[in-house]
Amino acid sequence: MRLHLPRKANLQAWLLFITLLPSLLSSCTTSSQKETQRSERGFTAQKAMVVSAHPEASRIGMEIMQKGGNAYDAAVATQFALAVAFPVAGNIGGGGFMVYRSATGQTGALDYRETAPGAAVETMYQDSAGNVIDGLSTDSHLAVGVPGAVDGMVKVHEKLGSLPWEDLVQPAIDLARNGVVLTQKEADGLNDAKEAFLENNKHVPYLVRDNTWQAGDTLRHPDLARTLERIRDKGRAGFYAGETADLLVEEMKRGGGIISHRDLENYSSVWRQPVTGTYKGYKVISMAPPSSGGVALLQLLQMVAPYNLQEYGWQSTKAVQAMTEAERRVYADRATYLGDPDFVKVPVQELLDKAYLEERMSSMSFAQATPSSAIKAGALPVYESDQTTHFSIVDPAGNAVSITTTLNGGYGSKVVVEGAGFLLNNEMDDFSAKPGVPNMFGLVGGKANAIQPDKRMLSSMTPTILEKDGKLYMVVGTPGGSTIITSVFQTILNVLEHDMTMQQAVAAPRFHHQWLPDEIQHEPAAIPAGVRSELESKGYKLHERGTFGRVDAILVLPNGSLEAGADPRGDDAAAGF
Ligand code: DON
Repeated sequence: MRLHLPRKANLQAWLLFITLLPSLLSSCTTSSQKETQRSERGFTAQKAMVVSAHPEASRIGMEIMQKGGNAYDAAVATQFALAVAFPVAGNIGGGGFMVYRSATGQTGALDYRETAPGAAVETMYQDSAGNVIDGLSTDSHLAVGVPGAVDGMVKVHEKLGSLPWEDLVQPAIDLARNGVVLTQKEADGLNDAKEAFLENNKHVPYLVRDNTWQAGDTLRHPDLARTLERIRDKGRAGFYAGETADLLVEEMKRGGGIISHRDLENYSSVWRQPVTGTYKGYKVISMAPPSSGGVALLQLLQMVAPYNLQEYGWQSTKAVQAMTEAERRVYADRATYLGDPDFVKVPVQELLDKAYLEERMSSMSFAQATPSSAIKAGALPVYESDQTTHFSIVDPAGNAVSITTTLNGGYGSKVVVEGAGFLLNNEMDDFSAKPGVPNMFGLVGGKANAIQPDKRMLSSMTPTILEKDGKLYMVVGTPGGSTIITSVFQTILNVLEHDMTMQQAVAAPRFHHQWLPDEIQHEPAAIPAGVRSELESKGYKLHERGTFGRVDAILVLPNGSLEAGADPRGDDAAAGF
């Protein structure tokens, strides 16, 4: 048995990133370079693996599997552990999506996305003149959607789990009591949010300290530990009824929020069919609406399939163009057609139709950029400091779980339920507050994603699993708001087209286009200078921004062992045996 020390993995990932950066920045297509790249594997394990945003969460998930639990048990334990160890995005006050593939090849998806409270109305974030009120959908008690995470974990356990529920929640309780040692990034995150924590709460939340937090400090969560005990002992009722529900509803009343006992009682996560497609012989299994992620990812892959990206070379002008033009068109479709399928008809088949996607790309030319103003959603025959977190798990039997879960913004609404010790999401901002008015990720939407009581807000989360020759091949996903879809897209292409290892594919710098604003957003050093000026001469606008996404992925190697891709942009870590 090989026990991996997560902190080391993180360090390794960083070192790997720094060592690889020069080669990643060139087009790197010669065979000798490819061989070098292939040898730069991430952490590997023989049987089972968890890759998540926090070493403690990865450790807890792995230990569940060492005790004989399956990937689904590990997923539940990891979700609860992240709520403690990674409060910026891990949660019980938020929601998420799970895509799974069993060892026997059965696939499924769980939608534990938040819903609009029953008292929500379409124009709730607009003033009397119809203008969207700044900050109301992001930094207030009104920004909170009805949390889905606990119901989601209960459903996962009921249907797919094997160990007792208590055993899956207990490690998070212990972690909350004993505390978690902060990394520099975590200390910075909490310090940066201090003002918002104080402004958005009537009480002084425990995440605020008189002095600043320092790396190495221990953060304990005593109230959260008690809430988790109620969840351990009562399951769903430990959150949606009784003391936790009372505390949540009282918190709402104190801050002008509208979530009621009825909303909590009524909340139910939903099993859905994942969306599936193929890319050059690989089967892609991803999240269906109310996430736009899976549909958009499948559209993107289908649209670039006719182009020889491998031959063009990684981050070459032609490769960036083909991908950008596909992205522009896909995000235009997203803004018009995607929403909660329980409320609006989402034309999934039509959006994934091969002929439709060919037609969409027919206006693309390598000579010049297509301006976004010339792109509208396609005519169909009928008819997202931001934070989220993703984790990928494979167990010894070969069951695979891909989960993306979020509070939406970093620390969500920054509202902490007094006495219950957990943060509430600000997921309501993922609705379209008003047609054409961008949300915090600059995404626009219309009718399909308008606010309605009990409706789920549209997401970009893209938990994904790939099969090759009928066998598990990759488990992948990321946070990053609107950039989630394109980060998953690039990570997949980095492996499939550009021969990168999982770790390299995750570490490689990324770019993104989302139709509006009409610009290629890119990480520093993501696009070589020569390619940038060529793109500019063809009419593309480039916009350098900070890093985006934290992709955590697992690749099944030809010998059956598992390779981790733990994103060096964060403190992400792999654990396995
Ligand atoms: O569901 C969505 O698409 C967003 N709420 C995700 C937010 C996110 O990824 C923020 N993280 N970086």
